[in-house]
Amino acid sequence: MSTTPSVGIRSFTRDQLIRMAQLFAGDPDLTRLIDTTATERTRHELASTPHLEVWVMTWPPGVSTGWHDHGDVAGAYVVLSGAFRESAWSGGAVHSRELSAGDERSFAAGHLHDLANVGDGFGLTIHAYSPALTQMTPYEWVDGKPVPIAL
Ligand SMILES: [Fe+2]
Repeated sequence: MSTTPSVGIRSFTRDQLIRMAQLFAGDPDLTRLIDTTATERTRHELASTPHLEVWVMTWPPGVSTGWHDHGDVAGAYVVLSGAFRESAWSGGAVHSRELSAGDERSFAAGHLHDLANVGDGFGLTIHAYSPALTQMTPYEWVDGKPVPIAL
């Protein structure tokens, strides 16, 4: 194991994660990653360090993540194309919002949500997480509440 200390930025605020996602979103070549024959959500890693991960995701119409959390990781995403609905569980209730091209969202560690492409076309989103996303827990609904699914 290396004893060399890692250098560079080790943590990102939510605003910094949004700006990081926007930085990657500015790449005009990203649209070439849209596979219009795909029937499932796909993701491509754009950056990966212990402190930051950036993904681009493509979303066929009608797909969703399902309910999940991100462990102790904070995140942000920006919508490049498509029409999305994020449903989040907070304060004992579901809160939904609609997002379209140019919209952005960030969340703290512990965020529990479901993100869906509710439009007629393919969607493209950029996601940034800090620290690296090592754990996502899926949830199911039991008696009107999201409950972690034991894996
Ligand atoms: Fe998520």
